[in-house]
Amino acid sequence: MKKILILLLLFLLSADLLANNSQVEPRGSNYDLYSSRSSTADEDFIRYIEKNFAVTPDDIREIIANFHSEMRKGLSGQESSLQMIPSFTDVAIGKETGKFIALDLGGTNLRVLAVDLDGAKGIEISGVNRYVIEKKYMEGTGEELFNYIAECIDNFMKSNNISYEKKVDLAFTFSFAVDQTSIDSGKLISWSKGFEASGVEGKDVVALLNEALRRKGIKNIKVAALVNDTVGTLVAKSYEEQACDLGVILGTGTNACYREKINNIKKWKGLAPKSSNMIINMEWGDFDKISVTYYDREMDAGTINPKEHKFEKMISGMYLGEIFRLVLRDLIKRDIIFKDENAVNLFDKQWSLKSEFMSLAANDKSSNLGAIEVFLSEQGLKKSDLQSRILFKYISSLIARRSARLSAAAVSAVILWMDPELERKHIVGIDGAVYERYPDYKGIMESVFNELFGDKSKNIVCDYAKDGSGIGAAIIAAVVASEEG
Ligand code: BGC
Repeated sequence: MKKILILLLLFLLSADLLANNSQVEPRGSNYDLYSSRSSTADEDFIRYIEKNFAVTPDDIREIIANFHSEMRKGLSGQESSLQMIPSFTDVAIGKETGKFIALDLGGTNLRVLAVDLDGAKGIEISGVNRYVIEKKYMEGTGEELFNYIAECIDNFMKSNNISYEKKVDLAFTFSFAVDQTSIDSGKLISWSKGFEASGVEGKDVVALLNEALRRKGIKNIKVAALVNDTVGTLVAKSYEEQACDLGVILGTGTNACYREKINNIKKWKGLAPKSSNMIINMEWGDFDKISVTYYDREMDAGTINPKEHKFEKMISGMYLGEIFRLVLRDLIKRDIIFKDENAVNLFDKQWSLKSEFMSLAANDKSSNLGAIEVFLSEQGLKKSDLQSRILFKYISSLIARRSARLSAAAVSAVILWMDPELERKHIVGIDGAVYERYPDYKGIMESVFNELFGDKSKNIVCDYAKDGSGIGAAIIAAVVASEEG
């Protein structure tokens, strides 16, 4: 009976943790909850997990300090886990005109859009096609991957009656770490998010796309701009909201960019841009001054790029489900959850638990956690007990919550870098499924701003920037096209 009551309390608390925007510190509250009663080995273990995934205010202050020193090093060209890549562009003024094809290669999806800019910030999307990048292309040769991309462009041109004669400017959003060498060229530094197509790292991805287009017989497309998805997101959002100076992706992967004063970019050797600011692609997924749990290390060992993208692997959708699976599997092995012999092999398959299920668990507000029950039965556990389902939901919330608190720590670091006293309003344009779909992800981030800045936290506004990356890239392409005349 006592155990049921405690688990019920845990359930209420986990629901509250996610629904509540106020400052709720998991380490404190649950520590008290557990320590107020005689603990058993199981409970101690859960408490241990809880502590492992907590991100305390002190941790956040340390992350901010480390972000600042890595940013400084990255901007001056010293070795740093933050690459701080100059994008060769700034936000646009809003007078851009023209028709563009935007090609957006993000993760497992490729989107092609026809974008029309009217010169007064009006944007019309006259066609959008989505294509799935199958595993065979992610893991095959670069030539096969780019041939497939050219095929998708060809299909898009046909279905949207785009001329094969007249010159067409294309904006290429390529959401990977690229060492940008000009606005329309850049070499892939390293793949991420499950991509490993051979022969692409170290090569200019625009040249690879051009070659594939020629092979396909498409001669009239000119790549006008190569843009990271964060940069596209920032440019598109700042079109609507002038105070937007930070673009963030919280999806399959994670990253951010922001507007930097050209004088602060010590490694910049080119001409000063007209606006005296330039957007910097931080590649914050690589940030590595942070400690990880045993489960993170285990997950990392099973990725195609072990020891890389440490921060991304604690935050983004590609990895959260797998971390959750590893914790669950451990709890099953220790006989703490699903104490049923049919559960022994549950969650044994690597990468089988998608992060979406964590949103599903968090959204299950029913008293018997019916949606979780159905999900578990689909996984092969025909019968599950309520106590285990409560624990399932709670563990998931700890992992998602860590992700949101780390994202908020990183956003805070960049904003304090730009505005140490937080004197002005900063709109953060954020896109990505983790941010969009995990219930109250935004609320958890805001509670961190509140913990750190109190009243001044109202100067940080997170604003959803749906599918901005392609549109932003088209806007940049328009700037380039107008400069070229
Ligand atoms: C890539 C970034 C990208 C981010 C979000 C990361 O894996 O390295 O360039 O912006 O994913 O898509």
